[in-house]
Amino acid sequence: MLNWDDYHTDEAIQPRSTAAKPAPEIVEQAIEAAAQEHRSASDPVAAEALALNVEKAAEALATLDVAPGLEELKMGASRISVDEKAMINCRADLNQLVPFKYDWAWQKYIDGCANHWMPQEINMTADVATWKSDGGLTDDERRIIMRSLGYFSTADSLVANNLVLGIYRLITNPECRQYLLRQAFEEAIHTHAYQYCIESLGMDEGEVFNMYREVPSVAKKAAWSLGKTQSLSDPNFTTGTTEDDQQLLRNLIGFYCVTEGIFFYCGFTQILSMGRRNKMTGVAEQFQYILRDESMHLNFGIDVINQIKLENPQLWSSEFQEEAIQMILEGTQLEIEYARDTMPRGVLGMNAAMMEEYLQFICNRRLNQLGLAEQFPGVQNPFPWMSEIMDLRKEKNFFETRVIEYQTGGALSWD
Ligand SMILES: [Fe+2]
Ligand SMILES: [Fe+2]
Repeated sequence: MLNWDDYHTDEAIQPRSTAAKPAPEIVEQAIEAAAQEHRSASDPVAAEALALNVEKAAEALATLDVAPGLEELKMGASRISVDEKAMINCRADLNQLVPFKYDWAWQKYIDGCANHWMPQEINMTADVATWKSDGGLTDDERRIIMRSLGYFSTADSLVANNLVLGIYRLITNPECRQYLLRQAFEEAIHTHAYQYCIESLGMDEGEVFNMYREVPSVAKKAAWSLGKTQSLSDPNFTTGTTEDDQQLLRNLIGFYCVTEGIFFYCGFTQILSMGRRNKMTGVAEQFQYILRDESMHLNFGIDVINQIKLENPQLWSSEFQEEAIQMILEGTQLEIEYARDTMPRGVLGMNAAMMEEYLQFICNRRLNQLGLAEQFPGVQNPFPWMSEIMDLRKEKNFFETRVIEYQTGGALSWD
């Protein structure tokens, strides 16, 4: 089993430093090109051409027009104040992180960094043995693992694309952007974790990575997310009018509240339940850390949406609220269909009916967090242990594997 001590041994570090070196064949090509250049430098005509290049660079700097840059930097403008900052359509300088307006965003960035983890630190040995043995898992349990990895391995790439190609550009606040950069890296770690599981277990990669196009219950969720988050990755999309600002809000709800806030929950619950039964504890531990990150992504998204509402109340019209409720209900329904597809029978102490109740509970929570009316009054949470994991009040030895303390700061507690 890997632990933090192994992590710092030369052996553990070795593959990383090797991987960090440039590829030898690319270096060889570069050396050959430089040698070619050098040979031609001995030719007087070529030498003159080289000297001309240097001269051109000096000339360009001598006549450099700094006006466009200065305009961008607004030289001599008064220092930025908190009041000038805004979540969207902000015209104040976005290069200045402080003074903070949204302390919650900065705090989430700090908390995210304190929770840093890497997939290779989790021991997968027992999982590989279980996966490859004949009687280790039932067919229903295998189906759950395959479907989960199939959905999540591509879903987190979609999430990362939306973040870096869209949300980062459209949210005009530096402390929020700082968290978005952290979230983007966490999404890369999640995709890495799924790939690490798929590779360790020796799964058919083509089958798993194409599930979002080939298995209807997985494909429907992916298609819904793609359709509802289209504007985020459209390079021509901008905010500034009520209509466009509402479109951004709609996309943020589709992204944070439904994709990250509903579509992850059936799969997470199934895999974590497996871990609680002492099966596939490595995969379960990977999912547990991912869930902890995701819970923070979701809370950040809810804060962003609510802050945009607060600063732009005209966007949150009663028609728009109806639309938001509709989107969350659609997401809930798709996740219920996914639950039915992945659990045709009872498995791991749960079944599709229990999951339906749980998803209705989650749906109520999302609506609540946005200040909207609950649609399933009185529904109870059949899996209270999930809340414990998400709220980070995780007891030690949850899966009876060693808990790695990733926490380097003091913001979160496992007790
Ligand atoms: Fe993720
Ligand atoms: Fe996420």
